[in-house]
Amino acid sequence: MGIKRKKNLVKDTKRLITPALVFHTDIVVKKARGIYVESAGGKRYMDFTSGLATTNLGHCPPPVVAAAKRQLERFIHSGCIFRYDSVIELAQRLREKTPEGIEMFFFSNSGAEAVEGAIKLARFYTKRQGVIAFTGGFHGRTLGALTLTASSARYRRNYHPLLPSVFHAPYPYCYRCPVGNRPESCSTECFGFLEWTLEHLITPEEVACVVIEPVLGEGGYAPAPLKYLKKLRELSARHGILFVADEVQTGFGRTGRWFACEHYGIKPDIMVMAKAIASGLPLSAVGSTRKIMERWSPGAHGTTFGGNPVSCAAACATIDAIEKMGAVENARKVGEYALGRLTALKGRCRQIGDVRGLGLMLGVEFVKEDKTPDAEVLKNVLRGCEDRGVIMVECGKYKNIARFMPPLTVKKGEMEKALDIFEESIVRQRKTD
Ligand SMILES: Cc1ncc(COP(=O)(O)O)c(C=O)c1O
Repeated sequence: MGIKRKKNLVKDTKRLITPALVFHTDIVVKKARGIYVESAGGKRYMDFTSGLATTNLGHCPPPVVAAAKRQLERFIHSGCIFRYDSVIELAQRLREKTPEGIEMFFFSNSGAEAVEGAIKLARFYTKRQGVIAFTGGFHGRTLGALTLTASSARYRRNYHPLLPSVFHAPYPYCYRCPVGNRPESCSTECFGFLEWTLEHLITPEEVACVVIEPVLGEGGYAPAPLKYLKKLRELSARHGILFVADEVQTGFGRTGRWFACEHYGIKPDIMVMAKAIASGLPLSAVGSTRKIMERWSPGAHGTTFGGNPVSCAAACATIDAIEKMGAVENARKVGEYALGRLTALKGRCRQIGDVRGLGLMLGVEFVKEDKTPDAEVLKNVLRGCEDRGVIMVECGKYKNIARFMPPLTVKKGEMEKALDIFEESIVRQRKTD
């Protein structure tokens, strides 16, 4: 593809695709394999975004491509007319990998759709209306999911009124503690906001579910403190409020465990999965206990495309390949190495306020001297990374947090190289500041 064609493609995107959909780069992709993406101009990039935590085995993992091709040749679609094997095989595999108690599934196509499903299931089962979510959280953009999403008011702008009876408590984002505490002296005082909500705004008996990301994703790549999640699980169990873990971004090995809940020893009542489940083919799942799922009566929810046979075959192959390649273990090891190096970098660089994360879900928060967010610096750094062949994206309300989320199969040498480039991009931009 020539330069002219590339320019046209970017121009045509602007002409034909709504500007509501934001592209992170103008790179036109010619081919993508593993961690590498080749642009139309012939430049090779390391993809440290994994297509937003989705291509956890890199682009086009051969066993997944082969499984999808085989299924494409057999049949593509069922639409719940015919019974088929790949969806049952997937449910079986998910039962083995998800936390104990998650044993029945509803398959859909996207993370937001699965969040919608979880809200409906919780309301249907409990016959209660209330939902508790967290400011900072991101759960998707369809209207129900968007009601829970509170990582930035700009996602919600012009869409009010949203779902009624949804209440938000502040996410326990320790670097910017909602009560101004420090991790050393924290007694999860911020949990009081949630208790206050249940005293003043809605009684616990009216709340169907609490929906939380165990590690804040789009809102800032910040793991919730263990104590907080334990308290939340205990409170929800006490009041019959269903605990919904949104593992859309944290799932399938991203945090160095199959699911982030394992870090916390938490068994959710409902779990939402998507993104990496099928290596990039559209698929998502709501998982829950038999007791809860069996009460979701026929016709109470449905789908035409959800659990598509090709996506399910790809998902089975994805889970098998993650297992065979030791990708979860690799994410833990390479993640630890990266966290160590980034922490050391923080010691040398005053523009980095915080480094945190689990596995290969690492956040680097850029700040000014007074700790206010510095999006401008990060923008320069990410531009520098792109020029030097590493694609990374930001997150957080102020877009001042760099996310490290390469494929779980990233080699230590590749991580080293990306970290060198990241550091060089900080140093160089500091000189031109
Ligand atoms: C935690 C979480 N939940 C839900 C979603 C929504 O997923 P989707 O974009 O597939 O609708 C996302 C997307 O980033 C997410 O990170």
